[in-house]
Amino acid sequence: MSRAIFDIQPVNRFGGSNTTIRRPKEIACFSYDQDRHFALGDASIAYYYPPSLPADLNLGFDTFQKLNDAADEHLDALLDTIIALEKDTGKKCEADIVTWRGMMTKILTAPFDMMNGFEMNATCFQGTIFIEENNAYKNQQKEIQRNQRMPPGMASQELMMYWGYKFEVLSVLRKPWDSTSRAEIEGRQDEVVNNSAQYCSVVKTGMGSVRMVLGGEVDAVWDCKPERKEDPIHWVELKTSAEIRNDRDMFKYERKLLKFWAQSFLLGVPKIIVGFRDQQGIVHRLEELDTASIPGKVKKVGKGSWDGNICINFAAAFLEWLKQTIKTDGTWRIRKLEKSHVIEVFKVEESGHGDILSAAFTTWRSEF
Ligand code: A3P
Ligand code: MG
Ligand code: MG
Repeated sequence: MSRAIFDIQPVNRFGGSNTTIRRPKEIACFSYDQDRHFALGDASIAYYYPPSLPADLNLGFDTFQKLNDAADEHLDALLDTIIALEKDTGKKCEADIVTWRGMMTKILTAPFDMMNGFEMNATCFQGTIFIEENNAYKNQQKEIQRNQRMPPGMASQELMMYWGYKFEVLSVLRKPWDSTSRAEIEGRQDEVVNNSAQYCSVVKTGMGSVRMVLGGEVDAVWDCKPERKEDPIHWVELKTSAEIRNDRDMFKYERKLLKFWAQSFLLGVPKIIVGFRDQQGIVHRLEELDTASIPGKVKKVGKGSWDGNICINFAAAFLEWLKQTIKTDGTWRIRKLEKSHVIEVFKVEESGHGDILSAAFTTWRSEF
């Protein structure tokens, strides 16, 4: 079967001023509760409230209720939310691409992430390309990560993952701060960490001539969601990172900033709170980053290891090319191998939509 190839290199051809980008706008939202049950709406929204410092992220590791995400959830929750939106508005939710934010993060960062690979499945339905993660590939990567040997004295992968979720629990409230008691704020310390609950924002956005609908988790809101739908939402992304002790750490942090920036930029999350932790998992200080100012800082005062303009121009060019490449049904694979500088697109099933689209969605759309 034929294979189309998009070369990421040389990245300099994507330099210069940005192609037009649309500010991401939330069109719908959904929540998972602590038992991973899906519901439309903002039941699982969280409100940012700074943790008290120093914060020990190890506490409660033995009671961690960890989500088993080995099963393939495809695009189901996103599609169910789109169906509900279309029922509500009576209008088709038009887009060139529908996918999870995580897939778009991989594409946006590809020009400066030669080492890592990715695998996605895609199909075209009613003129829209739907993209999901290839679950078998994801599980394989997780297995490799799990078996990675850690240098002596370093925390395990499991514990480090827990630190991230613990930091989230210590930094949010379930209700706005003015309806939360002091006891509830202090009680965050003792809360069992459960990573099943999530608030997911579904946004309309675009790069160049490509219109997208993206779904992704947001950690918290700074204040409250605004009354007026057209006003921007002051979302907050929470991150932990190792304290920067030397030049090498600085370089590693700058690489991480690429992921922080891309992930937040795509959903229109304006602020990132970084909790800097030591090797033992104790957070000693917080830093507030404005998402929009990260690329400029990396270029001017950092080591310049990546360029946000190049990322955006590359993504716009790649997605425009993808629109011309995936024009029929069937299942396609979008793949970048580790250390490779090309993205390959090829058909793996001649017809149908694989399991990318739920029956509920295709039935709804066929009758709409
Ligand atoms: P940190 O990012 O603070 O390490 P997110 O920041 O995207 O909301 O994710 C929350 C936490 O989930 C992360 O916190 C980390 O603990 C865990 N996590 C997310 N993606 C991960 C990955 N690919 N591997 C391991 N842990 C991950
Ligand atoms: Mg999160
Ligand atoms: Mg986070």
